[in-house]
Amino acid sequence: MFILGIETTCDETGIALIEAKENKVRILKNELRSQYKVHREYGGVVPILAAREHKKNLPLLLKNIEKDFYLRKIDFLAFSVGPGLLPALVSGKEFVQDLAKKLNKKIIPVDHLMAHFYSVFIKDKSDWQEITEINFPLLVLIVSGGHTNLYIFKNFIEKRKLGETLDDAAGEVLDKCARYMGLPYPGGPEIEKLSKKAKSYFPLPKPMLQKGYHFSFSGLKTAFIELVDEIKKYKKIDEEIPNLCFSLQKTIFEILIYKLKRAMEDFDTKGIALGGGVVANQTLRNMVKKHFPKEKIYFPEKKFSTDNGLNIAIGGYFLIKNNVQPLNYNKIEVYPRST
Ligand code: KG4
Ligand code: ZN
Repeated sequence: MFILGIETTCDETGIALIEAKENKVRILKNELRSQYKVHREYGGVVPILAAREHKKNLPLLLKNIEKDFYLRKIDFLAFSVGPGLLPALVSGKEFVQDLAKKLNKKIIPVDHLMAHFYSVFIKDKSDWQEITEINFPLLVLIVSGGHTNLYIFKNFIEKRKLGETLDDAAGEVLDKCARYMGLPYPGGPEIEKLSKKAKSYFPLPKPMLQKGYHFSFSGLKTAFIELVDEIKKYKKIDEEIPNLCFSLQKTIFEILIYKLKRAMEDFDTKGIALGGGVVANQTLRNMVKKHFPKEKIYFPEKKFSTDNGLNIAIGGYFLIKNNVQPLNYNKIEVYPRST
């Protein structure tokens, strides 16, 4: 079975092709075009520009796949239907609908956040790989530029949302605070890099720590901005940037760990899976491993942490395998918010 995965939820345009049989999959193509250069001058993603770029990039990426593969052999088109930026999702939807009509194929709608979860089960290699038995329930934390969601997954399909951010997402705070310090977009990788040069630590607040499984990062963002302003009053900000990056990153990650710990105490789970762009961060990975030494922990390959078409293709595979019905092109609806 061949599945094409298409990703257009935010600022990455991705198309990937996988082949799957029973418990084995192999990656045939994984085409990605990042738009960060387009959005950089605005300090963050501009939805209408993201849509324009997707429209431009999608046919080019498909051409790269088509040159080595006869598209009619595809069995299903997996498409990331949301959550994401509405104009970006719509541009992807129009593309996948046209393709489905042309090839006379059905579409598997894949949730963007579920795809971040599914991404932890695939390795970055081109030969056949076995999807090993996974023990459920799993505690799942998705940390990205748009979301900070904590779930219990009962199996590959059934999930219960324990909590989410009530304001900014963790990645969004990294991006916005980076921007305030004059660092380029996306801020998360810049902050990770600069943190390595830190020599001291600024304590920052951890809002809503005691409040169940929900998160709130906007107060931390405000406190960070005030700290930057305060420092600027008596010295040049440049020399403090590594310390600021380190402190921000550490505070955010400690909040994530705290909530994971609470959930691990309250629920009987067989392990933890983390997905989403922020999980590309090695410090976060090390902290999770250190705090949960006895747990089975699933991380995606670093390059599959951020949005890409492969995660969507793999999502399509898991959904089909779990008897989710693909849809006709005219039944596809996109949604900007998480369900
Ligand atoms: O999942 P993703 O690609 O897009 C959304 O669904 O939002 O995540 C993007 C987010 C951005 O906020 C970006 O700054 C963050 O992931 N990110 C990182 C790292 N790489 C990307 N944050 C911290 N450390 C990184 N290495
Ligand atoms: Zn994402």
